[in-house]
Amino acid sequence: MLIETLSVFPAMFEPVMSTSILGRARQAGIFDFKAYDLRDWTHDRHRTVDDEPYGGGQGMLMKAPPIFEAVRSIASQGPRPHVVFFTPCGAPFDQRTAERLSHEERLLFVCGRYEGIDERAYALADERLSIGDYVLTGGELAAMVVTDAVVRLLPGALGDEMSSVDESFATGETGGLLEYAQYTRPAAFEGAEVPEVLLSGDHAKVDAWRRANAIERTCRWRPDLIPTARLSESERGRAAELVERYHGPGYSEA
Ligand code: ADE
Repeated sequence: MLIETLSVFPAMFEPVMSTSILGRARQAGIFDFKAYDLRDWTHDRHRTVDDEPYGGGQGMLMKAPPIFEAVRSIASQGPRPHVVFFTPCGAPFDQRTAERLSHEERLLFVCGRYEGIDERAYALADERLSIGDYVLTGGELAAMVVTDAVVRLLPGALGDEMSSVDESFATGETGGLLEYAQYTRPAAFEGAEVPEVLLSGDHAKVDAWRRANAIERTCRWRPDLIPTARLSESERGRAAELVERYHGPGYSEA
């Protein structure tokens, strides 16, 4: 997979793309990464990428022409990229989206700065994504978040092929629940003991405890995930009790 970014701060990316799992995956050729500087597609002495908004208002907007020129010139070098623009007005990014993007051969991430981008530039976008309901100073961090979530799904990126399967939100195994609690040595720490069953060596009991724990944690911390989680009838009944216990009656109607 080739991941490319277009932004006014291309230097932000290199430390993240060369560290830890991303760095190793890149070294191993699991993905390749390039960061382009939008200013390379400007033609004035000041390399201007922004301008005042028509109709007035606060701040500056990114101009459409350099973005058009840049995306067209980058896209012309190789297979057509899937083009993603980052904006707080985009669709919410989630694990399902990460899985979908992980099948693309070439991704081009366009990162806005200032108060936004001239709306006409979005004509180049295959999609617009937001990483959450808060406003960042630019799309670069969002592009790094999405790159991290996508690359770790690529075959070989994590070393252990199974480790991206039974996790929080994974659309597979855990059926849309948060991941169960995990513990390592010491068995007793600061007055808190590791649950006895995890020391028992009884795999069936461990699996049952983990499933119940995943349901309990999801009911407590993310009750909004319960309606779409894959639960048996008895689990659903138990989950309804837990949601009521943690969040009071009437939560689901709220
Ligand atoms: N740019 C600024 N805020 C953002 C957000 N929350 N998600 C994606 N891009 C952004």
